[in-house]
Amino acid sequence: MSDRNVLIVDDDQLLVELVSSTLAPDDYRVQSAASAAEGEAALSGGFQGVILLDLRLPDRPGMDLLERIVAGYDHVRVIIMTGHATVEAVAEATRRGAYDFLSKDEGMTTRLPVSVHNAFKDLEMSSRVSDLERAVHGQDPFAQVIARSPQMTDLFATLSHVLDSRVTVMLLGESGSGKELLARTIHESGERASRPFVAINCAGIPEHLLESELFGHERGAFTGAISSKKGKFELADKGTIFLDEIGEMPLHLQAKILRVLESRSVEHVGGEKPIQVDVRIISATHRDLRTMVEEGRFREDLYYRLAVFPVMIPRLSDRVGDVPILADHFMRRIAREEGKKVLGFTTAAMEVLENHDYPGNVRELQNIISRAVVLASGSQLTLRELPRPLVDAARLQGAAIREVSPEPGDAADLLSAVFESVFQTPEHLIRAEEVEDALIRRGMKLVNGNVTRLSRLLGLSRATLYRRISQMGGKRTLID
Ligand SMILES: Nc1ncnc2c1ncn2[C@@H]1O[C@H](COP(=O)(O)OP(=O)(O)OP(=O)(O)O)[C@@H](O)[C@H]1O
Ligand SMILES: [Mg+2]
Repeated sequence: MSDRNVLIVDDDQLLVELVSSTLAPDDYRVQSAASAAEGEAALSGGFQGVILLDLRLPDRPGMDLLERIVAGYDHVRVIIMTGHATVEAVAEATRRGAYDFLSKDEGMTTRLPVSVHNAFKDLEMSSRVSDLERAVHGQDPFAQVIARSPQMTDLFATLSHVLDSRVTVMLLGESGSGKELLARTIHESGERASRPFVAINCAGIPEHLLESELFGHERGAFTGAISSKKGKFELADKGTIFLDEIGEMPLHLQAKILRVLESRSVEHVGGEKPIQVDVRIISATHRDLRTMVEEGRFREDLYYRLAVFPVMIPRLSDRVGDVPILADHFMRRIAREEGKKVLGFTTAAMEVLENHDYPGNVRELQNIISRAVVLASGSQLTLRELPRPLVDAARLQGAAIREVSPEPGDAADLLSAVFESVFQTPEHLIRAEEVEDALIRRGMKLVNGNVTRLSRLLGLSRATLYRRISQMGGKRTLID
């Protein structure tokens, strides 16, 4: 017997027989349901395969059942069958996630086996892709979180124990340290990966809207509620909800969240019946919740519910080892996005980056690199593209920023280092005269227009120097 299951949901017994006999019994195991309720019973009994669904069922519109199937079951494809296939119905069913559409006419028995065959192919393909994705993630679930400092690798090792569980995780860390990225990664590497990840920023939503955002509302629950709306908890059903900035949650909503955690159900604002939800909760905050608990600003019982598995993400300046690898990662990504050929950093630029304190953590580093890549004119990011205050601070702290403060006599060495980074292929080379021009231009400023002195320093005759200066627009333009 085949393991390809087909479920026909239709109350027309003749049609059920016709379909069963069309789909060769050797290829498929066919069962039927005469109503939406029977169809749902089969699904909750674990049916996986292809469903042939009639739109007119005795108990409920087939379209409703379609919506429930698509939202709740992964290993299922639905082919709609109908006697009256209007364009609108086809469009609506497709929008709601139907795989294909068959009209009940003479051609049906020809098209049916093809459509069912394709639906199984699609199912098999998608389960292979998710196997593959899980295998890839299995190798390194944290691949998208760039880090190599021991603090972060320890953190990944700890987190790897909770990826596949429902354990409530709380991410603690300063702004920009990567809390949201980590929350997504935990979700995407676990068994809920194919289900929704719904993030809500408790600080970004006005207090009077937050409740309905979280729990949904009924029509007419308050002024402006013109239709009922699902809340984030419902939208995250079977997946993960990310409660960002949980420390900003008002006390009365904290009580409601606690109730959701205890009853595993939510109630719409203005509604009465509880709606079951199965969500994994990940929360995050940059605040010190313990102190908030002591001060009575955060409920202690909720704190313990949420902080079952607390994880502290260190500040970037406490894991300087991550700076070069993050800088390199952002440089490559942004250069690709901007279509620029930037390949690396000068040593001095990297020194400045490693020296900085990053109050804005990884986000700040990302912004600095973005700006630098946009400004870059060569193939390397140099001090010129970094924010001035950073370079100055590095200098003040005595970092050996050779690009900025070379010792007299270092010039030839430095120049060859610069040449190495500027002239990377024969095509990068320029005429020797252009190098001399740059030298003269800079020199004229340094000697304040004293041609005799410059001719000595550069080892050029005064006559040559005068000629070159006048070709470059004259003494005045060079000094000003
Ligand atoms: N380890 C990392 N590897 C790659 N990108 C990172 C890393 N950490 C953070 N980022 C990037 O830095 C930015 C800030 O990270 P994220 O939004 O996750 O921080 P956050 O802690 O949630 O900050 P906030 O408290 O300000 O919301 C994002 O663009 C994120 O992709
Ligand atoms: Mg965030």
